[in-house]
Amino acid sequence: MNSLIALFGWFDARYPMSKLWKEHLSEYYAPKNFNFWYYFGSLALLVLVLQIASGIFLTIHYKPDAEMAFASVEYIMRDVEWGWFIRYMHSTGASAFFLVVYLHMFRGLIYGSYQKPRELIWIFGLFIYLALMAEAFFGYLLPWGQMSYWGAQVIVNLFAAVPFGIGEPLSEWIRGDFVISDATLNRFFAFHVIAVPLVLIMLVAAHIMALHEVGSNNPDGVDIKKHKGPDGIPLDGIPFHPYYTVKDIMGSVVFLMGFFAVVFFAPTMFGYFIEAPNFEPANALKTPDHIAPVWYFTPFYAMLRAVPPMFASQFPGVIVMGAAIVVMFFLPWIDKSPVRSWRYKDMRYAIAVAIFVICFVLLGYFGVISANPVRTMIAQSATLLYFGFFLYMPFYSRTEVTATLLRAPLVAFYSIVTFGIVAYWWAVPVSDVGTVIKAILTVVTLAYTYYFLIHPAYIKAGSVKPVPERVTG
Ligand code: HEM
Repeated sequence: MNSLIALFGWFDARYPMSKLWKEHLSEYYAPKNFNFWYYFGSLALLVLVLQIASGIFLTIHYKPDAEMAFASVEYIMRDVEWGWFIRYMHSTGASAFFLVVYLHMFRGLIYGSYQKPRELIWIFGLFIYLALMAEAFFGYLLPWGQMSYWGAQVIVNLFAAVPFGIGEPLSEWIRGDFVISDATLNRFFAFHVIAVPLVLIMLVAAHIMALHEVGSNNPDGVDIKKHKGPDGIPLDGIPFHPYYTVKDIMGSVVFLMGFFAVVFFAPTMFGYFIEAPNFEPANALKTPDHIAPVWYFTPFYAMLRAVPPMFASQFPGVIVMGAAIVVMFFLPWIDKSPVRSWRYKDMRYAIAVAIFVICFVLLGYFGVISANPVRTMIAQSATLLYFGFFLYMPFYSRTEVTATLLRAPLVAFYSIVTFGIVAYWWAVPVSDVGTVIKAILTVVTLAYTYYFLIHPAYIKAGSVKPVPERVTG
């Protein structure tokens, strides 16, 4: 024991081990009122580790070669000892990652964790989200099944929609060929196994460093550094270790129970985690009846399909899909509320968040099923309200009526776009049921625009409830 302590002392004199431990764990004071929503950051870390560990074992047996890839995955599933376990852990882990990250982002949204001084934590988070999407997209090609092949074909073809003669060469450059081929598989493997994970790890480190620089937010959105004891420690803070390490271990155990229940009993999750066509080898001559990405991409895919081609080009759809993510980067600056947490914001904010979540889930659902004119209209309405959440935020989050001379043209522009889309719906012929749905969508969309844009801009701004000085609970 004494020699162990001596060894530790030797290291500590040469490397800031105890300093790092203190700064980031035993003397990192986190608000004492963390709740359920604060599990998902540590769970995201846990899933990251699981994905890297299971990924290493998969790479040991996998062959990134168009002739052998599918067979090598079958070999992992049937012949490699515990291979099925490793593979299903990795495929379930991909979905679990997005689930955890979506809940983590939702927490940020409701408690205003993106607001000053945490803008950078949010921005690094969004870059993590983008890297995660790239990682999942590259990884899905590797089993070289039918959906791997055709999904990649559809997505890479989107780049071909870029106008001015840039699109075609760009998509060929990405594929390394005229179609998805062995060359594509090889480069996607390189990106999936090393390039993107490295970026991801660096971004997660930056994310946590930014968090520890300014300190965690909390469900009340109260700044705990305002009230410190004589020892300089925030009165509402508790050391991360042991309090939150124990809490997070408990959360991890519960999470792993659910995670392994899926791995053991429903690894394909009825086609939502691994789609049925992906158990057939890729066939460039046979297009599957219905090509849809995995559930975590479908909200954006539904937006892409909701935008009709203009000038014989899908590019506007691609722009809308990209904008759906880009708009999230502006959140810290478009939320004009003087308070952080939705607990103390105007009721209107909570309603806006609820509608936003419903739209996101609806879009996710409509992205999974095949499209028809009525479904497309619903997806268009949900897309409009999705953007409304962000674009109308400077209006409904303020505590004063906003339509100054400068903002009036903006209100007019948003209103004209909304009316234009509603008018477009009424020009599309649909069945009787379709007409009823059309009427409902018209009312919902116009009511939304009135309540979140026009009403706060001209008639009555929101109010805030008094925020307590110290955290509650
Ligand atoms: C690999 C993915 C990610 C990992 C490992 C991760 C990790 C963490 C951890 C450990 C925390 C502190 C604990 C907690 O507050 O739950 C945290 C906080 C935070 N994360 Fe993430 N994160 C990830 C992705 C994201 C994404 C995609 C976003 C948003 C775009 C995001 C936004 C935030 C914010 C705003 C905070 C501060 C929350 C607060 O103090 O209330 N993170 N993250």
